[in-house]
Amino acid sequence: MAVSDTQMIDAWKQVLTLSKLQAGDIVTLLTSDGTHPQTLRTALVALGQLGARANRLELPPVNGEKSLSRDPLAYLGTTPLSGNRAAIAALKESDLVLDLMTLLFSPEQLDILKSGTRILLAVEPPEILARLVPTEADRARVNRAAARLERAREMHVTSAAGTDLRCPLGDYPVIQEYGFVDQPGRWDHWPSGFVVTWANEGQANGTVVLDRGDILLPQKCYVQAPVRLTVREGYVTAIEGGLDADLLRDYMDAFDDPESYALSHVGWGLQKRARWSTLALYDREATIGMDARAFEGNFLWSTGPNNEAGGDRTAACHIDIPMRGCTVRLDGETLVRDGRVLEQEPDA
Ligand SMILES: [Fe+2]
Repeated sequence: MAVSDTQMIDAWKQVLTLSKLQAGDIVTLLTSDGTHPQTLRTALVALGQLGARANRLELPPVNGEKSLSRDPLAYLGTTPLSGNRAAIAALKESDLVLDLMTLLFSPEQLDILKSGTRILLAVEPPEILARLVPTEADRARVNRAAARLERAREMHVTSAAGTDLRCPLGDYPVIQEYGFVDQPGRWDHWPSGFVVTWANEGQANGTVVLDRGDILLPQKCYVQAPVRLTVREGYVTAIEGGLDADLLRDYMDAFDDPESYALSHVGWGLQKRARWSTLALYDREATIGMDARAFEGNFLWSTGPNNEAGGDRTAACHIDIPMRGCTVRLDGETLVRDGRVLEQEPDA
């Protein structure tokens, strides 16, 4: 169901206030062909009411002819910022950037963040944004999980379906997504609610068995029958199963890049208001699947790049895989049991 402009303006105000927007701040809205008109319109009203100065920068889409999907996350690599000196300068001079187009990670974006500019991505349809408006409590919960993950030296993931994956940790930072940008140089995504990190390079080993109902993104489908992925020294070396496995292999092979099969981020979902089942209710092109990435208790892992974490792998192919019913242990301590988050004490 649609949401009213009034609801969206209120939602924007909450996100902007949590993001410490001040009267007089200069905010640049990045837009492109896929920008939702209501999201843009209501952001401009909210910014005006909060006393910010808003600019709009329209950037043309790139890589559409290379991607096999219309999903904006389906093909990484160059972005509209690559070599775009004027756009980079404008964004560096902004206090806050609202990315309503899906800029995607790039060295240029990292450079902009280093200047202190905050960047908030918001591209899900308005009703999803309104349902998943972030809160201070979301931040606190993600902060606690991130603090625990930062201390960990090994993540061990198991499931009744046969998953048994070990990821030595410590080489890469922990990234927390809670839906707003309250610190200089912070990037985040509204909506979200999860923590991720990357296994030490070449050290993840084991088996991941996707069970019926686990999700593949950008395919935006529920796996119908088990898919067994073998992980050896940081790479997926075999994908076995029925039709779902054949489709996944063919999609990944199309990129013709061995780095497509590297393990990317590993972590778990913490957002109670995100639902596993919503993907079944939407057209594939109407959402990028943030409910799936963030629903509470998922084990979210992925394949492809690690440059977002400071590594040098820039694979264009990136598959996000939220799984249900997994147990996630850090150095032997269970954080998620059978898909249920075990609460940590606030000061743990
Ligand atoms: Fe991802």
